[in-house]
Formats: sequence, C-alpha cells, structure tokens
Amino acid sequence: MGTVAAWWRQRVPLDGDHLRELTNEPVPNHLKRWWFCLGGTPAYLFVVQIVSGILLAFYYQPAPSTAYESVRHITDDVNYGWYFRSLHKWAATFMVAAVILHQMRVYFTGAYRKPREINWMVGMCLLVCTLMLGFTGYSLVYEQLSYWGATVGANIAESTPLVGPFLKRLFLAGDGYNQATLSRFFIIHAAILPVTMIFLLGIHVVLLRLHGVTEFQFADEPNDKPKHFRFFPDHFYTELIIGLILMIVLSALATIFPAILGPRADPLTTPEVIKPEWFFYVVFRWLKLFSSTAAILSTGLILFVMFAWPFIDGGIRKWRKGSEFSVYIGIAAVLLIVGLTVWEAAVEH
Ligand code: HEM
Repeated sequence: MGTVAAWWRQRVPLDGDHLRELTNEPVPNHLKRWWFCLGGTPAYLFVVQIVSGILLAFYYQPAPSTAYESVRHITDDVNYGWYFRSLHKWAATFMVAAVILHQMRVYFTGAYRKPREINWMVGMCLLVCTLMLGFTGYSLVYEQLSYWGATVGANIAESTPLVGPFLKRLFLAGDGYNQATLSRFFIIHAAILPVTMIFLLGIHVVLLRLHGVTEFQFADEPNDKPKHFRFFPDHFYTELIIGLILMIVLSALATIFPAILGPRADPLTTPEVIKPEWFFYVVFRWLKLFSSTAAILSTGLILFVMFAWPFIDGGIRKWRKGSEFSVYIGIAAVLLIVGLTVWEAAVEH
C-alpha cells in the first residue's frame, strides 16, 4: 500500500495539506443560516440533472416520429425509467425555484454590489440558461403542449425587431416546425446549455472564492466570537445534509406524483389552452398584455435592467448616499412577478 501511495504521490504531487488549503476557505458565520447558502442547492440539482439526463438520453430518440414513443418506452418499460424521468422533472422545477430564491437572497442583501457586479451578471446568464433548459426540456416530449408551446415560443421570438426571423429559423431549424426541430432542441438542451452552464459556474465559483462571500455584521452577533467557520468539513457537511434531504424529497415526489404523458402532438389540432411551465407564466401573461413587438421590447428592456442592475444601483447610491431604493424596487418586482404568475395560473386563456 505504501509503495502504491508513494507512486501516486510522485505522479500527483497533491497531499492532504494542499487539499486542506484548497478547500479550507473560511466561511462567514451567516452561512450557517440556510437562506444564505441557497446557491449550493441549484449546484447540487444541476448534478442531479446531468446524471438523470444522461440516463434518459440513452433511450430518448429526438425526432417527431420517435420522440413520444421513446418517452413512453422510458416511462412504461425501461427499468426505473419512470423514476429517473420523474426525478429529472421534479429536480428541474426545484432548480428553477432555487435559482430564483438564491437570486432574491443576493438581491435583498445587496451582495451584488461593488466589487461583485460581474458575478451578478454571470449569475444572470445562469438564470437565462436555467430557464432555457426548462423550456427546451419541456419541448422534447412531443406532447400536444410541447409542440404548441415551442410553436408559440418561436412565433414570439419572430416578433423581435431585425433578428426575429433569424431567431425563429435558428430555434426551429427551419421556417416552421419540421423533422430537424427536435434534434435542434435536443442538442441545445443536452449539450450547448449544460456545457455553457459548467463554464459559467466555473467563473461564478472562481470569482466567489477570489472575493469571498459578502461579510455581514448582525446586531445579535457578539463582537468577541469568531466570525468564520471552516468550509471543510463544517460547511461541506451542511451542504451534504441539504443534498440528502433534497434527494429524499425529490424521490418521494417522483414516486407519489410521477411524470405522466399528455396526448401526442398533433400539428393539425391547436389545443384550446396552451400553457407553458409555471416558471414562464409571468412572461406569458406579460406578453398577452401588450402587442407582440411592444411585449418583446419591454421584456428585453427588463432583462437589460436586471443585467445592469449593480451599475444602475451604484449610480443611484452615489447620487443619494445610503439610498435603499433597491429594496422598494425589489419588493415591487416580487409582487409583480407573483401577481402575474397567479393571474396566469388562475385563468384559462
Ligand atoms: C445555476 C445557478 C447558480 C448557482 C449554482 C449558484 C451558486 C452560487 C453559490 C454556491 C454561491 C455562494 C453563496 C451562496 O450559496 O449564496 C453563490 C453566490 C453568488 N451568486 Fe450565485 N449561483 C447561481 C445563480 C445565480 C444568479 C441567478 C445570480 C444573480 C443574478 C447569482 C449571483 C450571485 C452572487 C452576486 C453571489 C455572491 C454572493 C455573496 O457574495 O454573498 N447567482 N452562487
């Protein structure tokens, strides 16, 4: 054993001390409160998605003539296929929710402010990728709602001034939904977006380590107590426990409410009600409130403001020292998002 260990150490000159130094970042005490370390949850769920997604991809066949049947085969015939499909669906829902909650925590604690503006923008790219993963994943099943959801999405993209028709062609792999559309969705869903996310997550974590997590001083925290605890093993164990609890909850949900299959896509029959996944309700309702070009332009403007928020907020705070304007904007945004989502959920059309 000693010789094997010595052989290994010569080839990979990394010992326990090195590893401890790499992982032992001191973590501020407030990360003991779960809502401050919510970023670990989407990271964990992302791994669940990669593993369950690879297993699903062994059986999924991305073409209009085969997709629906292959999903049915996964659900009904393949050993544990129903479980991994349901796990993938539930973990997707949880991941979107966790990213939104993490972003809200970062926003309301002002953790995006100087010098963390770039990491906020990287986070925004992660949010967009997460939502696009949800959209393309939903479209792969080739149910009625997958087909019509994708068609409506492509038509909305077409209303973008100047680049609209190009976006639609890029998206559908042609002027309309065709034989190549599903493989286009599949390559975006299973290759382009995950690889982009791994790259973005790398930058997110490197910037996070370089800056360290934002330090806060709480009124109830005594000044003489240590302000940090160890990442390894203390914080690591907390994340491990959160991961285990999530796995139990996800498995329970996958078993009690397994993913089902709606009617197969029929390009000749438009369903009476076309609804996207719940996390697009807000955009869907917003789009219904305006003409298509006005809706697209205003959505683009909102996205731009969200990306640039750390700089806009910085400008406001320079002009009005200590202004808490961002808190009011945040509360208004949350109320608007919840309001539009509930509105869309409550009505048929
Ligand atoms: C897949 C999505 C994401 C993952 C896996 C992720 C992961 C993480 C992790 C692990 C942290 C450490 C602190 C914590 O847990 O809160 C963090 C911090 C941070 N994240 Fe994210 N994040 C994601 C998306 C986002 C989004 C959507 C935003 C905002 C638009 C964002 C902005 C930030 C910022 C600014 C910090 C630094 C916070 C501080 O210094 O306290 N992240 N992220």
